[in-house]
Order: sequence, then C-alpha cells, then structure tokens
Amino acid sequence: MVAIDGPAASGKSSVASRVAARLGFLYVNTGAMYRAAAWAVVDGGIDPADGAAVVAAAGAVGIGFEEGRSFVRCGERRLEAELVLEAVNGMVSRVAANPGVRERLVAMQREAARGRDVVMEGRDIGSAVFPETPYKLYIDASEEVRQRRRAGQGIVDSIAARDRQDSARKASPLVIPLDAVVIDSSEMTLDAVVAAALGSLADLGLAGARGVL
Ligand code: CDP
Repeated sequence: MVAIDGPAASGKSSVASRVAARLGFLYVNTGAMYRAAAWAVVDGGIDPADGAAVVAAAGAVGIGFEEGRSFVRCGERRLEAELVLEAVNGMVSRVAANPGVRERLVAMQREAARGRDVVMEGRDIGSAVFPETPYKLYIDASEEVRQRRRAGQGIVDSIAARDRQDSARKASPLVIPLDAVVIDSSEMTLDAVVAAALGSLADLGLAGARGVL
C-alpha cells in the first residue's frame, strides 16, 4: 500500500496514477469518492446542513475496477465529468467533513486494498486510512502554483477555501504524517516528481520501485 496525500491541485492525481502504472499497482483516487458523494448531494437537491440526509446520499456511492484503475459510481451511473463541476468543487469539502460519510468511504477504501497492491491518493490515506503503511508520500506545491495549475485546466475551484476546510475539520483533517516523505513539486516537472516519488519509495524499501526507476 502506497499512500499519497497532499493539498488541492498539488498534482497528486497525475503523480499517483503514473506511479501506480509504473509499479503495476491498482490506482485508487479517494478524492473522486468524496466528489461522487458531493455530486449525489447536489444532484439530489439535499440540504448540506442535514447530516443524516448527506450520509444517506453518500450511501449510493460505489467503486468499480477496470484496467488497473478504479472508477466511481452513484447508483448505476458512472461519474466522470460530473466530478469536476463547479457545484461539486464548492460542495465537496463540506460533505467530506461529515464523519458518517468518511466512515462509509474509508470502509470502501480499505476493502479496495484488501489483497491488492494499491497506490491510494487523498488527504488522510497515510494519516488515518492506512497509518501502518511505511510507504507514505506527501505531494505539496505553493498555493500560487496550485491555483495556476487548476486554472490552467479551465476549472473553477476555490482551492484555498477547500484547503482551509480540509485542514480545519475534526474528522481526519489534512495533515502531513510524521513519517511521510514530502515532495514540493512547485518547481518540478511531472516526470521529475514521478521519478522522485519512485526514488523515495525505493529508499523506503518498496520492492520493485528501484527496478522501474
Ligand atoms: O484534485 P484535488 O486535489 O483538488 O481534490 P481531490 O483529491 O479530488 O479531493 C476533493 C476533496 O475531497 C478534498 O478537498 C477533500 O475535501 C476531500 N477528500 C478527503 O476529505 N479525503 C480524502 N482522502 C480525499 C479527498
């Protein structure tokens, strides 16, 4: 189990999916799961202040696997473009702060990793979901760089506001695990970050990481 955490738009999805492909591990993006729950709340017209209704809506979220990656569903509907809607960006941190939502999605994350080699990406993977794994990376970047990267994707996203909410919440806030290797990607190309991530995993003793460097 390789845990990759970091703040909004730090580039962790790009890094995590490439690291997983190089290692031949399954890639799981847990942000997509929280985004699917937020989409269910938005789509259902649910009042985000109604915690029980939010947990019930998140109950429809599921994951599937295909070609080394996971994807998210809400009921039978597979979600992709919906996950980066502005309304979802604005709702997701609030939904993710709900302990009942987290309990359900964390159970799915642990189940997804049972008996599989996985690279899992999120906010609390190294700190709360798999604290026992020795393979923890934290991908950071300056706020300015992160704003620029997200704007470059043509996506409206208040990343500073999400970071504040994600760091301040009671349930599994965004923290840097003490034993994580921190990579500041602000001045690095994607290829350089992937190489640094694989190098760090090799240094941490992950069998197979050195061979794919
Ligand atoms: O892509 P980006 O880094 O902007 O965000 P994401 O990884 O898709 O995560 C979206 C939101 O889901 C975060 O802002 C958190 O509120 C929440 N999240 C979480 O609480 N725990 C996780 N393990 C992953 C995401």
